[in-house]
Amino acid sequence: MSHADDHAGTRRDFLYYATAGAGAVATGAAVWPLVNQMNPSADVAALSSIFVDVSSIEPGTQLTVKYLGKPVFIRRRMPEEIEAAREVPLADLIDTESRNPNKVASDASDPNRAMDAAGEWLVMIGVCTHLGCVPIGNGSGDFGGWFCPCHGSHYDSAGRIRRGPAPENLHIPVAEFVDESTIKLG
Ligand code: FES
Repeated sequence: MSHADDHAGTRRDFLYYATAGAGAVATGAAVWPLVNQMNPSADVAALSSIFVDVSSIEPGTQLTVKYLGKPVFIRRRMPEEIEAAREVPLADLIDTESRNPNKVASDASDPNRAMDAAGEWLVMIGVCTHLGCVPIGNGSGDFGGWFCPCHGSHYDSAGRIRRGPAPENLHIPVAEFVDESTIKLG
């Protein structure tokens, strides 16, 4: 994946801000279906793995790739983002499920959300769990993570819903490191 993806994400974020500023709710193009029935079946998904080169992602930045028709955020977190996420008591969370199919542990503590033990890498489906808009990243919102401008959902630096109408943490796709610079999605 290239820097062009970063730039595309920036442009999209700007468009969402503009849409929200005009008082409009998201257009059809901004909404990603959350309906499970629209997802491919398991056998199709198994054929649909993609490999993402993450070697060019600098700390504090996010690469957005499209996977199975949805945006996937790959964020390389700064130490302060990790620290902030790990300081949050579970009791403060709206959704206490990890939403991470890659780990057996199911609570939404930060280590259960991150890809690696150090917590540097966070990979999430970039679809708001309210009605499917794409949240804005780069520390947006009141909790230093992502902000969905459609109806004002704030996600923290672990992608956990902290305020607003979204009911669940940002979901995490099936993902794994296959070598030190390559993430396999699916
Ligand atoms: S779609 Fe409603 S807050 Fe994100």
